[in-house]
Amino acid sequence: MDIKEFILTKGKVINEALNECLEEAKPERLHQAMRYSVLAGGKRLRPILTLVAAKLVGEEEKKILPAACALELIHNYSLIHDDLPCMDDDDFRRGKKTNHKVFGQGMAVLAGDALLTYAFELLAEIDDLPAERVLLATKKLAKAAGKQGMVGGQAADILAEGKEVDKEELEYIHTHKTGALLEAAVSIGAILGGATRQELAALQDYAQGIGLAFQIVDDVLDIEGDAEKIGKDVGSDLESDKATFPAVYGLERSKEMASENCQRAKEAVSIFGEQAEILRKLADYIIEREY
Ligand code: IPE
Ligand code: IPE
Ligand code: MG
Ligand code: MG
Ligand code: MG
Repeated sequence: MDIKEFILTKGKVINEALNECLEEAKPERLHQAMRYSVLAGGKRLRPILTLVAAKLVGEEEKKILPAACALELIHNYSLIHDDLPCMDDDDFRRGKKTNHKVFGQGMAVLAGDALLTYAFELLAEIDDLPAERVLLATKKLAKAAGKQGMVGGQAADILAEGKEVDKEELEYIHTHKTGALLEAAVSIGAILGGATRQELAALQDYAQGIGLAFQIVDDVLDIEGDAEKIGKDVGSDLESDKATFPAVYGLERSKEMASENCQRAKEAVSIFGEQAEILRKLADYIIEREY
């Protein structure tokens, strides 16, 4: 199967579910702001990983969709806040104006807050899977999104602006601001699907590999990418003097490191044999992507 086609097909299923769960209600402006960012496109990589991991351990897609949506909602909240003038101060995202450029900063902050809390509502409402799995998945998501995960990484990212960071700190930033949520996407699919300890460990190892590779490639694209294709302004990291892999290791070594982490990810899922083919293709896609 062609991986780009697979991503498009699964993306459509996820888009429909997202459209359905984000109703137009009062306050209208808040709901419009939420819908504006979430339905603006995006690769839907995190929810796709959740569905794929669950299927790999034997759970049907339909039951996993609310959790997959929860992951995408938290990702979207992180993007809205990441683009704010007090953070990365960016004007374009997914080929459209950033949320605060259209709705103002107050509404952008609140749309992010609402997406974050709504994600947990969606998870807590799952009643067709064992409750202990849902509880474990909820705990996983809270940790990955919060101070020990994405928010912690974003804080470190901001604190590192304009400073020289060592390799250890750089890895902390990337594995937390981006890796944590990608790892949660895979783990939550596995947990809800009823993975064994061994399966979960292998999938977590995979997710850590693609997580780091993903943010290294994001850094590389911020230098070498085509703004039209990636739908965001390039050169933003340089402008803010961000701690990035290219800044610390140079472009060529960064690309090699992305490949090494992709390789590690592919090897981690060897216990699943042929069944993990989609995961291996997704890992390759992550380092070959142009947006
Ligand atoms: C961008 O994530 C922000 C990072 C965590 C690097 P994606 O590249 O997955 O963005 P979308 O969802 O496809 O727009
Ligand atoms: C953001 O990293 C990670 C998030 C938690 C949103 P970046 O700041 O590099 O993401 P982009 O390049 O703006 O998408
Ligand atoms: Mg940022
Ligand atoms: Mg940014
Ligand atoms: Mg970036």
